[in-house]
Amino acid sequence: MMFTDTQLAQYEKHGAVTIDSPFTTDQLDRAEAAWDRLKQSGHEPYEDPDYIEVIQHPYFEEVAKKLLRANTVHLWWGLAPHERPPTNPPYASNRDQWANGCHIDIQATLEDFEATPRRMRAELWFWLNDVPAHRGAMRILPGSHRHIMEHWSRILQPDHKAQLPRVHGLRPAPVSKNTPAFPEYIPDMYNSTPWIQQDPSPAVAHRGQILILCSAGLHSAWMNEDDVPRKAMGTSWVATGVSCGLPKNQRDAVMDFFPRLRSKLRPDRTHIVPDTFDWLFESNYHPKWTETFLATY
Ligand SMILES: [Fe+2]
Repeated sequence: MMFTDTQLAQYEKHGAVTIDSPFTTDQLDRAEAAWDRLKQSGHEPYEDPDYIEVIQHPYFEEVAKKLLRANTVHLWWGLAPHERPPTNPPYASNRDQWANGCHIDIQATLEDFEATPRRMRAELWFWLNDVPAHRGAMRILPGSHRHIMEHWSRILQPDHKAQLPRVHGLRPAPVSKNTPAFPEYIPDMYNSTPWIQQDPSPAVAHRGQILILCSAGLHSAWMNEDDVPRKAMGTSWVATGVSCGLPKNQRDAVMDFFPRLRSKLRPDRTHIVPDTFDWLFESNYHPKWTETFLATY
């Protein structure tokens, strides 16, 4: 196993870690060619056999099992080939990019994160080309996941905690009135620098490495100042038996494409895509959980 205990400890502490994978150069070339084809054609990823080869590779499942402390896991979401294309100058300052872009995607409590199996989404970003800092490397604020999950542990009502983990995008104030999350926000922590003024780290990587991300912590997309795109394929996983919330449109999409993806997998790999959806509940921005914002905000 190339995912070591030390790296697992780093994930728990920082909310992100980059690990190696067993993919050969030849396999990476095929995966990257599939990525290029899919970007060009706009076809559904599960129609491409070389994409399927990546998604059903046992390594991701093994990493997810270890990460989630689970005997069995399954896909929660399969990211389409993901692109961070070159951005035209002028480039916004680091401070502005972070202040405007930082957010979380998963809402969960620290008890969820520390449970066995872990009630968290395992997000695996598989890099098909190098990710130097200037090629739109994702920015991550190490350790923020723990403070924010602690906050949810402290303030959420029990009946709401029972509806976690869920995909629920939130950011620190100010939150625009035009966003669906409004007026929910992530408060600054007592006695520390405001979130939007902190300095995130670039998640740099070599081709073939995997970023394991806990998106219950703050992270941000970043402008790609290079002249080639950043290329990724991603999957996300959950432990069997853990219920997960998704907004209606995302839940509908999963229920639509999982059966089609499943039909393309080798018979010995179909277990990574469930054929029932009792583990997947709908969770939207409405009705609002009023403890997630101040009435006066
Ligand atoms: Fe995100």
